[in-house]
Amino acid sequence: MSTEHRWNHVNFAVPPERLPSLEECIDTLFGWDKFVAKPYLLGYRLTGDFHAAALYFRPVPAAGSLTEALARLRNADGALDAALGELEKIEGDWADHTGFMTSSLEEWEMRLERARRFERERPELGVRVVDVLRPGDGRAQTTDLYQAFIRIGLLGPFRNTFEMQARHAA
Ligand SMILES: [Fe+2]
Repeated sequence: MSTEHRWNHVNFAVPPERLPSLEECIDTLFGWDKFVAKPYLLGYRLTGDFHAAALYFRPVPAAGSLTEALARLRNADGALDAALGELEKIEGDWADHTGFMTSSLEEWEMRLERARRFERERPELGVRVVDVLRPGDGRAQTTDLYQAFIRIGLLGPFRNTFEMQARHAA
């Protein structure tokens, strides 16, 4: 049995003041088609199909308040600090993440290098390459799947990670 449903979009509530930097991150790292860029809505699509694979960001003051409160409270609450710390260091595939596949291995390598450059040169963006798995490295799940887990700290302390995949050319 199959429902024949398709994932077609995800939405992230983000601190309003972080939206411009987040836009720079997404544009530079992933290069998705930015089909809406308004003060209240940033929207991308990953394919030419308007009804498939869209990704939205909305400026929500409460998202900023939550991030600030978590940063403040984790100093006083050991359990909260431990939980957030575990989510930060847990293996990429176990943490909340959103996955997509690039159109070629060459593009995957290029975008991974961009993420590493941001990690080195633009610390204010909070980009971190959490993990990289390549076929033949003893950890990859299949013989043809490349996985790079790229964390965007601007999204807050969790639900902040994208898994970028590529496969060997056929
Ligand atoms: Fe995954």
